[in-house]
Amino acid sequence: MTIDLLPELPCYLNGEFSTLREAKVSVMDRGFIFGDGVYEVVPVYAGRPFRFAQHMARLDRSLSELRIANPMSHPQWRALVDQLIDAYARSLGNDAGQTDQLVYIQVTRGVAMRDHAMPPGITPTVFATSNRISAPSAADRANGVACVSGDDFRWKKAHIKSVSMLGSVLARQMSADVGAAETVMFRDGFLSEGAAANVWVARGGRVIGPLKDNLVLEGIRYGLLEELCAHAGIPFELRRIAREDVFTADELLLSNASKEILPVTRLDGQPIGNGKPGPIYEKLYAGYQRAKQAPLA
Ligand SMILES: Cc1ncc(COP(=O)(O)O)c(C=O)c1O
Repeated sequence: MTIDLLPELPCYLNGEFSTLREAKVSVMDRGFIFGDGVYEVVPVYAGRPFRFAQHMARLDRSLSELRIANPMSHPQWRALVDQLIDAYARSLGNDAGQTDQLVYIQVTRGVAMRDHAMPPGITPTVFATSNRISAPSAADRANGVACVSGDDFRWKKAHIKSVSMLGSVLARQMSADVGAAETVMFRDGFLSEGAAANVWVARGGRVIGPLKDNLVLEGIRYGLLEELCAHAGIPFELRRIAREDVFTADELLLSNASKEILPVTRLDGQPIGNGKPGPIYEKLYAGYQRAKQAPLA
């Protein structure tokens, strides 16, 4: 992509608001050289960040794995995100309260001469921007999406929301190449997750997800799905899920910040369940829409 293709979107970089066209980082930023940084993607509904506290908690966990001190307090992050939400809404000629958007936050270790070991005393680079939410189409919601399966060849620290994402890029491209929505990954015969989404199995009226360990990124929707299931009286369980249990699921679901919850109705060309979005999806999706309006009671 050339710089001219970058849209005039507002962004924040190291204390200053500008646009994606104007903002520049050093070529020696360790995010660029080593992928040495972390990120968050926060959905915003009607101008309000959704589950912001959970995003901040995950940012803290990711940063502490990288031994980077969080350069800002949670209230400072909130103020920054609120300013960006306003700036993006204004760029559309809207009030913040009228817009849904997706805020991206990134913290890298900062700028230093190239050396793998962590240089002491450098200042983290803080970047944030916002854009529209690219939500699934009405057809994808009505019919479900097709996915392919693939080997999870990523590293063993998938629980860190790191910007070192080559494994996810290569995995996602396997599905992009055949026009599928996601790559559902398996490690040693067990389900891990999608290239950029968590994956859920519904069987016998239960929702089952992979264990929250180092092989999976704990999406913010892990906690949310558990709450939505509790609300809907659907048993929820985390355990190791064998490959055959995925292919013979009654329903298969993806979750992430922009897809929310999305039914998978074909995997490697085979139908999942009856090949249509099922009742568990319908219930959880309805609950999700209510949760966006107001916290679950
Ligand atoms: C590898 C991976 N797993 C899971 C998720 C879902 O996380 P969240 O629900 O916080 O969007 C993502 C998000 O993009 C991801 O990249």
